[in-house]
Amino acid sequence: MPIKSRIRSIPDYPKKGIMFRDITTLIKDPVGFRLVIDSLTQRYLENGVDFDMIVGIEARGFIIGGALSYTLGKGFVPVRKPGKLPADVVSQEYELEYGSDKIEIHMDALEKGTRVLLVDDLLATGGTALAAAALVEKVGGVVAEMAFIVNLPDVGGEQKIRDKGYSIYSLTDFEGD
Ligand code: PRP
Ligand code: MG
Repeated sequence: MPIKSRIRSIPDYPKKGIMFRDITTLIKDPVGFRLVIDSLTQRYLENGVDFDMIVGIEARGFIIGGALSYTLGKGFVPVRKPGKLPADVVSQEYELEYGSDKIEIHMDALEKGTRVLLVDDLLATGGTALAAAALVEKVGGVVAEMAFIVNLPDVGGEQKIRDKGYSIYSLTDFEGD
């Protein structure tokens, strides 16, 4: 598992009881980073998921989303932390695995009906991804699929998101380990 084995696990960060899955060790290795982008690129070139735009979630979703926009020849729309986008925005609050936060998107980011691939590094509780999906929909877009490097199914986000009818793709799962 060349992707999974490059991800570092840090116990009790940022809080006791949380096992932090750290992708910095994966992407600082050029082979690892290329594996991530090539794997996702291959999926979306080959499997026929229909979308016109990539939406990446600040901060770590930008790393993958930007590269994937380039390889797939799609535009990139950022979902950002509050106060960072200069034009009119729509906001959404959400719960994190630890704490809560808010994210924003430009009101005019998407043409009505634009199909979107939502990209982030990791899926845990699903709070971030569902908030980003809500933002996409509030500004008129349609979520075609959500793509992650890491899925933590034990935390429950995957089930929650699938129950709402969204499609999910992840490169590696940490389950019971
Ligand atoms: C992390 C991670 C995902 C999110 C997943 O982001 O990058 O975006 O948490 O957790 P969830 O499924 O429970 O919502 P975070 O906001 O912690 O930091 P970042 O700005 O470094 O991406
Ligand atoms: Mg994040």
